[in-house]
Amino acid sequence: MIDRLLRFLEVDDTTKASGAILSNLLAPQLDGIIERFYARVQEFDLNPYVTDRSIASLKIKQKQHWIDLFNSQFDENYLRNTRRIAVRHRDVELNPMWYIAGYMRLKLAFIEVILRARVPVESKGQMIKTLDKYIAIDMALALGTYDTVVLD
Ligand code: HEM
Repeated sequence: MIDRLLRFLEVDDTTKASGAILSNLLAPQLDGIIERFYARVQEFDLNPYVTDRSIASLKIKQKQHWIDLFNSQFDENYLRNTRRIAVRHRDVELNPMWYIAGYMRLKLAFIEVILRARVPVESKGQMIKTLDKYIAIDMALALGTYDTVVLD
């Protein structure tokens, strides 16, 4: 299934090379972005499991997941981790609407960093396309697992 998804979205060697560049660009900004993300989640009281106590470890785990995704070969390891993460969100009863909206806020924060980068506009375009593809894959897999788990 993942192979078809990758082919459909045209994730090729150029995309993967751009993913690695994106990872290097975003890595120094991830702590701040994820911190602001959880502050927003708390402000909107989106999930009772996001607490001052749990946020410290959530930040570390989420940061690692983004870095893994941007450098992913979409192998069994990535698939297993993504499924596990989805199951955890299902277990804390995170509404898929907020899950998707959460991805979107993070994506917009990543795009801000790309737009500010001192690189040619073509590179920015390439990185935004890669980001969009990768987030679509991660979100599709996460919600696909969610669905199966809910139906089970
Ligand atoms: C509004 C949106 C979100 C909320 C409220 C939320 C909340 C949570 C909560 C409560 C947990 C802990 C689950 C547990 O106790 O096992 C968790 C785990 C996690 N979340 Fe989110 N989350 C959101 C969106 C996202 C997004 C968009 C990502 C990035 C793809 C993400 C990445 C993770 C990771 C990597 C974990 C750790 C899973 C593990 O233990 O393996 N979350 N999240």
